[in-house]
Amino acid sequence: MKPSRRHLLATGLAALGASALPGALPAASRLRVDVWWHPGCGCCSHWMDHLRAEGFDIASHPVEEVGRHRRELGTPSNLLSCHAAQVDGGLVLEGHVPALAIRRALEDAAPGLRGLAVPAMPIGSPGMEIEGMAPETYDVIAWAEDGRQWVFLTMQGGIPA
Ligand code: CU
Ligand code: CU
Repeated sequence: MKPSRRHLLATGLAALGASALPGALPAASRLRVDVWWHPGCGCCSHWMDHLRAEGFDIASHPVEEVGRHRRELGTPSNLLSCHAAQVDGGLVLEGHVPALAIRRALEDAAPGLRGLAVPAMPIGSPGMEIEGMAPETYDVIAWAEDGRQWVFLTMQGGIPA
């Protein structure tokens, strides 16, 4: 007997329910992060793993030319790193931005805040941990619609400095 569409749907929903671990965020409160990255880049995948572990849903878009998407997102050209991203169609991200910084920005958005960037690829930032190498101290830079930029958070590796 061929399973009906309705049956397949019901089974799918049951599977989703069963996969919700105790303590995990309910599906409705998980934020989607679109990520544009070059398929040759391993650290981008590690950063996506970091966000998944922190409860974000990742929509991964491996692309040949990340720059095109960056321009569409309006990322300032002095803040570049390896990947471009956007949280729920709003807040723009560039590089290895820690989940902690994203959450803070969403909870308490400064007026006009448009994006967060970790320029270059500091050792020890999420997805850039390298065994045997001390985590660097680095700034998470915020930028606004009107072009203002400021230090949003200073981190050492995965924790605020
Ligand atoms: Cu990277
Ligand atoms: Cu990357």
